[in-house]
Amino acid sequence: MTYQAFYQNSQTQPIQFWEKQAKAIDWFTFPEHILSRDKDGLARWYEGGQLNTCYLALDYHIKNGRADQTALIYDSPVTNTKAQYTYKELLLETAKFAGVLKELGVQKGDRVIIYMPMIPQVVFAMLACARLGAVHSVVFGGFAAHELAIRIDDAQPKVVLAASGGIEINKIIPYKPIIDAALEEAKHQPSACVVFQREFLKAEMQDGRDYDWAKLLATASPANYVPVNATDPLYILYTSGTTGQPKGIVRDNGGHAVAMHYSMKNVYGAKPGEVFWAASDVGWVVGHSYIVYAPLMYGSTTVLFEGKPIKTPDAGTFWRMIQEYQVKVFFTAPTAFRAIKKEDPTGQLKAAYDTTSLDYLFLAGERTDIATLNWCEQMLQVPVIDHWWQTESGHPMICNMTGIEVSSIKPGSVGQVVAGFEIDILNEAGQIVPPNEEGIVAIKYPLPPGCLPNLWQDTDRFKSAYLSQFNGYYFAGDGGYKDQDGYFYITGRIDDIINVAGHRLSTAEMEEVVASHPAVAECAVIGVADELKGQIPVGFFVLKSGVDTSEAQIEKELIKMVRETIGPVAAFKRAVSVERLPKTRSGKILRKVMRAIADKVSFNPPSTIEDRSVLEDLRILMKAKNIGKKKY
Ligand code: COA
Ligand code: AMP
Repeated sequence: MTYQAFYQNSQTQPIQFWEKQAKAIDWFTFPEHILSRDKDGLARWYEGGQLNTCYLALDYHIKNGRADQTALIYDSPVTNTKAQYTYKELLLETAKFAGVLKELGVQKGDRVIIYMPMIPQVVFAMLACARLGAVHSVVFGGFAAHELAIRIDDAQPKVVLAASGGIEINKIIPYKPIIDAALEEAKHQPSACVVFQREFLKAEMQDGRDYDWAKLLATASPANYVPVNATDPLYILYTSGTTGQPKGIVRDNGGHAVAMHYSMKNVYGAKPGEVFWAASDVGWVVGHSYIVYAPLMYGSTTVLFEGKPIKTPDAGTFWRMIQEYQVKVFFTAPTAFRAIKKEDPTGQLKAAYDTTSLDYLFLAGERTDIATLNWCEQMLQVPVIDHWWQTESGHPMICNMTGIEVSSIKPGSVGQVVAGFEIDILNEAGQIVPPNEEGIVAIKYPLPPGCLPNLWQDTDRFKSAYLSQFNGYYFAGDGGYKDQDGYFYITGRIDDIINVAGHRLSTAEMEEVVASHPAVAECAVIGVADELKGQIPVGFFVLKSGVDTSEAQIEKELIKMVRETIGPVAAFKRAVSVERLPKTRSGKILRKVMRAIADKVSFNPPSTIEDRSVLEDLRILMKAKNIGKKKY
């Protein structure tokens, strides 16, 4: 079937289309309704259906001949460890850990926060929650205690799961003190904290609250899967929004299971039994969907890589992995390849490896620049496919659907709309703009299965953040355009969210931290273009009158504050003092204009600007301080 025919079918008969996709998974009870509305008028998929996500990821395959197939490959250059688990072994580990959670009182619907690095235990833990019908919320290890505390208070977990630490290239990162500090700050207290002690670092334990993972496991009996409703939540994943409070994206069990299976087959062109590797982190949506759930539910072999694209031990590590595990489909963020290219521009390290097992390379998380796309194509000699999605959607929204038809690739474009989605480019008035005209990317509501049905206990915010901008559409927060052939181009976020090395961060959150410095009168944090990380945050602050501390000292303090409050992942390493910030007459800071100056793109300052001369001052300052694009 051609992509066009497949897409048309999803549009003309959406209910039949999604009913057919649902039949590809093994339900305990097939849904009564394919699509319905809840009491708040929000779309729900597969109401009346009963299933269990962990059953689909493990037990189902064991019943269907995959017991001895490798399910999970763990490769950790930072600890010199390699391990593999068959589906049977992964089930054993998971069921035993589900037994641990059950003993601790975790039941269907309870929340469990997971703050762990890329080790097999994190996969056991996620699947164990799914097995019991508990709702996990994984927090990325690069976030600091305060961020963890916000998530603990919002999710109200019964149990927190942690590891004693992680390794960033060669630096040991103790996780337990971060958990302790977060629990000190949080109002909500879990009844237990289970810590996996790693060999290189033993965490201090608090009597009565902390439990040793291995000790609990030694006496646990395996727990069986618990049937849940399709509309019951599987997990909450917090993501940056445009305020200091992250959004708790909810993923339901039914829609998610169908979407994971659907996308593996039709979008990624993957095949059960083959190796699918997403080099990301379980703390991000890519890790949830394409390290843990989708490959396992689809019967593939997945890869958990505890390392970086470079320095672990060198820029040849990705090539080594592809060869060693015969990876068929590989997915990562463009920044990872920019890092490799910077270390080894001519690909000398590549020559030592045979990567011909690979069928496709998929890139997402941020814009793929054409130079990086071309370099990857040259290195790997396979289609390099840029595609677009976000935490909220849980799976690709715009992509070359390689499982249906490998369409031609237009460098710079993220491809065509994935069947099931309907996407338009709108102007601010909500009208569809003609081809090649830039506007706002908007997705017809209801969104397909697998996308967020709501925010965790915040329907009002869900409606105001996503559904109130344009009637009948979901607002994705990105700008872009569509060409005459239906290919989309994403031009970047139109809000205060930035993408730093593929990590989604909120500048509003950073501004809150900078503004809390006693010497700062007002500030703006913007994302500026960066050759390696795509974007990096830069703070601009106006000092309170009478402050005589040096700019360098304040910059140092601000960097420390952001690192300690949000975390190292914010990569906040520059803050400069300015006399004034550009504002409208009503006092709104013109961050978009500041970004345009830094990135050297043309712009029209709004007619409501308070004083135009501040723009020239800023331009001179950025040039003097070497902020933004190199060429001035
Ligand atoms: N736990 C603790 N700290 C972490 C962390 C984690 N899981 N992940 C990152 N950090 C820290 C890093 O150590 C670094 O700290 P530093 O300021 O002390 O050096 C900081 O957060 C920024 O990390 P990172 O963004 O990874 O930058 P880097 O300079 O260390 O590495 C790249 C650059 C390009 C190699 C790296 O960003 C990378 O591999 N990117 C791919 C991103 C990706 O997979 N994104 C997922 C979306 S698909
Ligand atoms: P996240 O929720 O962390 O996956 O981040 C989602 C955001 O990353 C999107 O809203 C986009 O701004 C950006 N993004 C993801 N993929 C791409 C891509 N292929 N091209 C451009 N931007 C992307």
